[in-house]
Amino acid sequence: MSSDRKLSFETQVTHTGRAGKRVHGFVNPPVHRGSTVLYPTMAERRGGFSHRLEQKLTYGLSGNPTHYALEDVIAEIEGGTRCQIVSSGLAAVTTPLLAYLKAGDHCLVPDSAYGPTRTFCDTMLKRLGITTTYYRPEIDEAGIAALIQPNTTVVYTESPGSHTFEVQDIPALARAAHARGAKVLMDNTWGIHFFQPFKHGVDASLQALTKYVVGHSDVLLGSITTATAEDWERVRNTALALGQYASSDDCWLALRGVRTMAVRLEHQMQAGIEVAKWFAGRPEVDKVLHPALPGAPGHALWKRDFTGACSLFGVAFKPRYKAEATHAMVEALELFGIGASWGGYESLALPTTGFVTRTASPPIAEGPVVRFHIGLESTADLIADLERGLEVLRRHGG
Ligand SMILES: Cc1ncc(COP(=O)(O)O)c(C=O)c1O
Repeated sequence: MSSDRKLSFETQVTHTGRAGKRVHGFVNPPVHRGSTVLYPTMAERRGGFSHRLEQKLTYGLSGNPTHYALEDVIAEIEGGTRCQIVSSGLAAVTTPLLAYLKAGDHCLVPDSAYGPTRTFCDTMLKRLGITTTYYRPEIDEAGIAALIQPNTTVVYTESPGSHTFEVQDIPALARAAHARGAKVLMDNTWGIHFFQPFKHGVDASLQALTKYVVGHSDVLLGSITTATAEDWERVRNTALALGQYASSDDCWLALRGVRTMAVRLEHQMQAGIEVAKWFAGRPEVDKVLHPALPGAPGHALWKRDFTGACSLFGVAFKPRYKAEATHAMVEALELFGIGASWGGYESLALPTTGFVTRTASPPIAEGPVVRFHIGLESTADLIADLERGLEVLRRHGG
């Protein structure tokens, strides 16, 4: 673009990372597949071919133009400097943790963190001599400052938590961390572009592109975007040292997903809010864990820091219902699948009580919790299905 005006999200996902004039006028970049990169001369081998000056093509593992196209669009929608694509959302969690932590360091992780993040800290990081302290996700600036030790190099965040939906005060946590020399990492999979991590003090933002970016429940992929070129270098070197690689075909599918993401997200945000509001009016429901709903936990912070919401939220049922009754309810649903992951075009319902570990804070609700992901079906059909499900819940007690 010739003007300095920042492009809107809809325009970014339509234009960034396209083929430009490079491939004979075709709109999309092709799938580049390859390990070996051939050089006509030794001098060129020393220099490397380049897509952008600083992106050298040396060997398949270090990426090719299909990867770079996806990296460009993710960096742009998150407002970061550079992005590194890795093989899965979980690899996007573990790679920056390994980039910023070394033996003897200490890491702070919210109690709401994605389960396998916790497992990684409790097993792999522990084995490497790195200690983890879990903290209450809603902790304030003074609270986190008190937990930071001289060897704390990472304050990890995930907001909202993908099972319990607490919204974190990221600017406050970043102030405390930076004042004490620690880096702020964030799992921004829920926020996608609705939360601009680098405007709020995050140093490295990761996403499971598996969710809304891919959008069709058929690819696993992760991204790490950084605030600065130095941070990117650090993350990239770690990714390369670990042999992290994402298939070009998967990156191409993610690029295809990106092009329709703005319309999918808009639809799914509205549909999610409509279904969440419907739940909030039901007598079987204790509380709805959807940060965009006025009165829901974390709503004030969401309103301050986010420009929208994805379609993943939780519903806590009245304590008189047993977890088993919610199992019977989800089994009775016809349009909702029972399954992990989210961000695809299809709706999901997943009972989470008994499957979520917390060590620094009390359970999020007294009664059983079910996580819902709202897809692209009609909300009238989904609500009719949920009506049937609630009948089954009532029949199973309470
Ligand atoms: C919040 C969050 N982060 C990371 C991941 C990991 O993503 P992937 O399944 O691509 O490894 C998930 C997956 O469910 C997630 O929910």
